Amino acid sequence: MDESRRIAGVEEVPEESTLLATLRPVDSEAVDEGEGDLGEGEDGAPEVEAVLTRAAGEVRAFRNYCQHWTDVRLDKDDGAFVRNGEVFCQKHGATFEADGGYCNFGPCEGAVLESVGVAVADDAVYLDDDAYEFVRLGPSAGKGDGSGSRIDFTGN
Ligand code: FES
Repeated sequence: MDESRRIAGVEEVPEESTLLATLRPVDSEAVDEGEGDLGEGEDGAPEVEAVLTRAAGEVRAFRNYCQHWTDVRLDKDDGAFVRNGEVFCQKHGATFEADGGYCNFGPCEGAVLESVGVAVADDAVYLDDDAYEFVRLGPSAGKGDGSGSRIDFTGN
């Protein structure tokens, strides 16, 4: 595996929360300004975020925005709420199946989170998606203050 694409050790990916990683889209034109995980690197190039979880027994990764209001991040740099194999959006309570991102409850029921390809080798998780380059663990630039663009019912 290409070490520049190593995201984290498998044990670092939580089963009842998410791990946040910053990625750089290979095609900067492919990003949507309305997606809440969109940030900007020091060089001005766009960055996006991925949330990784082991809630489904295997490591899965998705882009860090809800399918209901796409400007809302699932993980605001403190881990998304994950229970019983489902990732919750804390804005309006939508739940997404962690094994594929399908929304099985909530205002965007039937929608699917945008997947990011990852692979496991030698107890580590690697980015396995030609659309992105791995930048670092943690939030995209300007996204790490824990706030969202809209207040949710948890007060965040
Ligand atoms: S913004 Fe996620 S459920 Fe409404």
